[in-house]
Amino acid sequence: MGEDKEAILKLVREYHRGQAEGEFVPGRTPVLTSGAVLDEEDRAALVEAALDMRIAAGPSARRFERDLARYFKRRKAHLTNSGSSANLLALTALTSPQLGDVRLRPGDEVITAAAGFPTTVNPVLQNGLVPVFVDVELGTYNPTPEAIAAAIGPRTRAIMTAHALGNPFAAEEIAELARQHDLFLIEDNCDAVGSRYRGKLTGTFGDLSTVSFYPAHHITVGEGGCVVTNDLALARLVESIRDWGRDCWCEPGEDDRCLKRFDQKLGTLPQGYDHKYIFSHVGYNLKSTDLQASMGVTQLRRVEEFGAARRRNWRLLREGLDGVPGLLLPEPTPGSDPSWFGFVLTVEQDAPYTRRELVAFLEERRIATRRLFGGNLTRHPAYEDVEFRVSGDLSVSDIVTEDTFWIGVYPGITPEMIDYVVGSIREFAGVPR
Ligand SMILES: Cc1ncc(COP(=O)(O)O)c(C=O)c1O
Repeated sequence: MGEDKEAILKLVREYHRGQAEGEFVPGRTPVLTSGAVLDEEDRAALVEAALDMRIAAGPSARRFERDLARYFKRRKAHLTNSGSSANLLALTALTSPQLGDVRLRPGDEVITAAAGFPTTVNPVLQNGLVPVFVDVELGTYNPTPEAIAAAIGPRTRAIMTAHALGNPFAAEEIAELARQHDLFLIEDNCDAVGSRYRGKLTGTFGDLSTVSFYPAHHITVGEGGCVVTNDLALARLVESIRDWGRDCWCEPGEDDRCLKRFDQKLGTLPQGYDHKYIFSHVGYNLKSTDLQASMGVTQLRRVEEFGAARRRNWRLLREGLDGVPGLLLPEPTPGSDPSWFGFVLTVEQDAPYTRRELVAFLEERRIATRRLFGGNLTRHPAYEDVEFRVSGDLSVSDIVTEDTFWIGVYPGITPEMIDYVVGSIREFAGVPR
């Protein structure tokens, strides 16, 4: 590293240390639901990428992809510009003509949870497929394997659903169900990096899984995401569709990795048409940049530390709120060890207060709250005129829409803050400690 660069990065680290946050003042300092937790290494990595002017994907993108694949013990990870793009890519890959008879075709069904984030579902619609909504379970907020099994119909070809707020769905059982019925499984792992089910990381059970690196998530690069898979053929499809739909898999700046750049005949193109410009998919450009990836490399080093803080905060809330009347507390899926995204609360039907009152009280105290994203997605204007099927009823998703919200457990929250949150909720419910 040049001397100038070294001096600049030293200053950047010093600058970072000078940005230390003030003391927590209950009622004044906001207790957020989520946020980026960045250290001097993240700041230095970002500045170093900027100093090098690595403004497109480059060495850090390749390194971060390798690190992610190693972390998940999968063959490939492909960076994208968001978790939503990762979902779009993962599902679109399954529609590739290169998959032959097993590819998803317009009108085929994909089973998904009714309550959650819209961009878990939207790729299904964006590909002309039909979502089949199943209800979630109160307490875990995931669909059960039984609900998914009951939803399988003659045109069902895939399951694509999220580990709700970090809580794994019964991934082994659902993956087995998928195998038995020849269905693809995509795990939306955007909210659950570091969670485990039966000892295995979530994101490693499905054919493909996705991650978001938005600041609310377990590790962040600002805007970003990735698609993870152990299947090299699927990985090629993801890469092609991410990179404009091209057939060639040379890295940017590379020219002839296949050693047949001017020696191929595809489609009705002339023999030897430059492989760099042969397109085998109707693709997108959903790539990321080295600015983001450089920070991803440093953030990923802290994933276990972040997970430990999330688990600690969740446990302190769970213990502190035990026995508060009117509140249904969250439950980890049996056999799981969640790296929690948030702490979900449902105000029971017969509680002496409403969710609205409790949320207003907390927000007044500067304790931030969020909804379980869209709640029952079928009730949103966006889905009024689209084709979907509902399996069973969506009564729990409706309860989630009315009575459920969540509060933060992210690593920026300290035990002192949790104490304040617990004390506030207990005071509201009339059961002070
Ligand atoms: C379950 C789930 N999937 C996908 C996304 C989309 O991620 P991004 O914001 O990176 O597009 C989110 C966003 O929070 C999410 O919670």
